[in-house]
Amino acid sequence: MASLPTGVTIVATSGDDGPAGATANAVTSLSIDPMLMLACLDRGSRTLLAVQAADRFSVSVLHDGQEGVARSFATKAPVAEKWAGVAWSERDGLPAIDDALLWVACDLQDVIAAGDHVILTGAVTDLATASGVPLVFHGGDYQPLG
Ligand SMILES: Cc1cc2nc3c(=O)[nH]c(=O)nc-3n(C[C@H](O)[C@H](O)[C@H](O)COP(=O)(O)O)c2cc1C
Repeated sequence: MASLPTGVTIVATSGDDGPAGATANAVTSLSIDPMLMLACLDRGSRTLLAVQAADRFSVSVLHDGQEGVARSFATKAPVAEKWAGVAWSERDGLPAIDDALLWVACDLQDVIAAGDHVILTGAVTDLATASGVPLVFHGGDYQPLG
């Protein structure tokens, strides 16, 4: 699947322990009416645990200047360290990466076990868009669009 170019997102949530987030490209829109999102997280993802505890998550779609953000959130560094140096704010009680091309807030709807991952679906409660060029992941690396 390294042959399939994707955008790059940060799936995140906020809980009693503060914000949690992971870089994720197994993310897509699922339904228009009702508006649903889908994200797949590894069973070992700390963000998955936080999302299940909060019952909510956000998705921030990164622009091409945010490779550093994607790299930060793709690590197992202490959760609080991931957010250090990243420009973000809280919106509707959920993390939003500043200047993201798209930010979507979701109420967690379904949690479906699937192999070593878990499929999350979420009902969209809010969203915000911005213009810009997306960050692309292809061939196992971040690539310029085109
Ligand atoms: C481009 C890219 C896409 C990724 N997509 C996913 C994904 O869709 N689901 C997932 O569980 N992990 C994905 N990862 C790996 C997670 O970001 C990584 O395991 C992270 O450390 C999880 O952090 P957490 O344990 O704090 O949630 C991706 C990594 C990269 C670099």
